Amino acid sequence: MNTKRMLTALLLFAAITTSVLPVRVAAQGRQPSPVAPRREVVAAVVQEAYDKFKNETKGKNADYIPYLAQVDSKLFGIAIVTTDNQVLTKGDVTFSFSIQSISKVYTMALAMEELGPNKVFEKVGSEPTGRPFNSPVAVVDMKTHTGNPLVNAGAIATTSLISGKDANEKWIKILDFYSRAAGEKLSLIDEVYKSEAATNTGNKALSMLLAKYDRIYADPFESVDIYTKQCSVGVNAAQLARMGATLANNGINPATGEQVIKAEDIPHILSTMTMAGLYDGSGGWAWNVGLPAKSGVGGGIVAIVPGKAAIAVFAPPLDEAGNSVKAQEVIDYVSEKLHYNLYSPASVGWK
Ligand code: DON
Repeated sequence: MNTKRMLTALLLFAAITTSVLPVRVAAQGRQPSPVAPRREVVAAVVQEAYDKFKNETKGKNADYIPYLAQVDSKLFGIAIVTTDNQVLTKGDVTFSFSIQSISKVYTMALAMEELGPNKVFEKVGSEPTGRPFNSPVAVVDMKTHTGNPLVNAGAIATTSLISGKDANEKWIKILDFYSRAAGEKLSLIDEVYKSEAATNTGNKALSMLLAKYDRIYADPFESVDIYTKQCSVGVNAAQLARMGATLANNGINPATGEQVIKAEDIPHILSTMTMAGLYDGSGGWAWNVGLPAKSGVGGGIVAIVPGKAAIAVFAPPLDEAGNSVKAQEVIDYVSEKLHYNLYSPASVGWK
């Protein structure tokens, strides 16, 4: 090749790398947020949090679902996935645990994909209940009767909104949606499903109460069964963090580049998580941590840092409200160190 040809080839290469590559990066996620902390800083803080809380013994595994009582309460994993798809993990991040109530966030998102946010707001609502997650009193007392999509009654009502020719089609649609948010195929933990299905009289009672107030939109017990399946989906901490990062990344899965959730739905989801994601612990959580988050009685919590990242922590022992003790401690610590609190101007770079 002569010099002229080589120069042309070089120029062509430069033109391709500057025009095509940024497009590819943008499709895979977003440009790194200018105020997101650097990878080494995040990795150091994750390590510190792991060391600081690994011997925490407060809390107790959920036992109203028999399977959950026998999960090793020492399991402990932390995962962060950033909106530019960097993955930082520590501890037991490949152990598959049941997603439980964290599923409610993604069924809410799917219902909005199908019906639009206004319909979901009208049919379910977005009011904190101030009561335990499974409270029948909230259903009777509240004007909307459903509260919001993140407490059991509202979640069962939300599940009943998902369309499908039969229960199986609805369930497969839900599972596929969760898998797209995670960027890999998720599946049911059959033992969890069986254990919960054999003991979920409280949720069946909630569904009948909803029927009394015309706030459930398919067969009540069929809806409880699909809801029980969605709660029994297995995720590990890394998969959960990626599901969270899809929310942080404006609905685009940062690994696959797929727009899984409409961008305009994200503020509705995150505001509901802020108000009700940790149930009757949500007020204290917003006060201390300032991040939308969602817990599950399986021991997982995912917190969303919009535009930057998601943190998922798995540790089974729970507090009185049903939220993992260690997961709350870790997320509180990490978000304080990394200036993640959304209510602080430090989160957008102010010192
Ligand atoms: O319906 C239930 O009770 C469980 N499948 C889910 C509850 C739950 O995860 C509450 N979380 N903190």
